[in-house]
Amino acid sequence: MQRFTGTNEALEFLAWQLKAGQLVAIPTETVYGLAADALNEQACREIFAVKGRPLIDPLIVHVGSVAAAHRLAHWSPIAIELANRFWPGPLTLVLPKQEIVPDLVTAGRPTVALRMPRHSLTLRLLSGYGLNLAAPSANPFGYVSPTTLDHVKVSLGDRLAWGLDGGPCEVGVESTIVAVSETGGVGLLRPGGVPTEALEAVVGAPIEDLRESAAEASTEGLVAPGMLARHYSPRTPIALFVAGEQPKVETGEAVVWQQRPREAPAEGVSAFWLSEDGDLATVARALFGMLRQMDSLPSSRVWFELAPEQGLGRAINDRLRRAAAKR
Ligand code: TXA
Ligand code: MG
Repeated sequence: MQRFTGTNEALEFLAWQLKAGQLVAIPTETVYGLAADALNEQACREIFAVKGRPLIDPLIVHVGSVAAAHRLAHWSPIAIELANRFWPGPLTLVLPKQEIVPDLVTAGRPTVALRMPRHSLTLRLLSGYGLNLAAPSANPFGYVSPTTLDHVKVSLGDRLAWGLDGGPCEVGVESTIVAVSETGGVGLLRPGGVPTEALEAVVGAPIEDLRESAAEASTEGLVAPGMLARHYSPRTPIALFVAGEQPKVETGEAVVWQQRPREAPAEGVSAFWLSEDGDLATVARALFGMLRQMDSLPSSRVWFELAPEQGLGRAINDRLRRAAAKR
């Protein structure tokens, strides 16, 4: 993988590659994406091949403006309101698709997932060159999402020609995904960078959690496989404990705290922390790098302290639970 910084020449070159049907690893504020021209079916097919992703798992299409997104989906008033409030940013809207979107991208569903990311380099690629980019997280299917271009390079570097370096991701967990029905109902498909509370403040009602019904409805084409257990899985076994509980750590294992612990760890146990003071934005930013780091240690098991179940804590705990799910 050749690495580019965000000069005008580099962006022009990469936009050209994308238009020619090539794949490029792109930075977003959430995680790095593995991008291809969303309207080029052959290029999108290559995304699935490089990631080892099953064709039943649809892709998010990244757009450079709300106007560009109008060509790809049918918009209800509440969807427009959510986009106006949270775009560019870590919110993905699942909307009834327009015909122009290839079925491969939506895995045959009647809906398309759309988001306008807020990383300046990727926004320049999208809006400066009129691109719509289909991009899942740039990791092998089932593994931890990348929050630096180095993470991308380690796991996909020899299958991918081009990478755009936008520095470490600002948010660190993926976008929140909501489905907006034609009648204006809003349901949560994946907690993420926009807290549910913030969405509810705009919608003016509690947001229904569709995760379980989506999983059950898999045969009806509603499920998002990325929402199922055993995703974000590191190789080292992960165990979880809630704050205030004492984890049953054994010698040779590691503990990862939400914030710097007051006491030193027991003999033979390694201790790490995701933030100094428990700030959830800091924890989210550090989480995937920590999961990867734990995979490179000899620890036989790693204990993670869960975050409080509010704000970004919901997305953090969702990723931790799936990292800990039995394989
Ligand atoms: O933050 C993010 O969303 C990152 C960055 C790169 O934008 N992308 C990301 O993509 O996390 P991915 O493919 O790893 O996860 C997208 C999820 C998948 O679980 C997929 O099943 C779901 O979105 N999805 C996509 N289209 C859908 C649709 N039409 N209906 C329901 N779920 C959909
Ligand atoms: Mg992913």
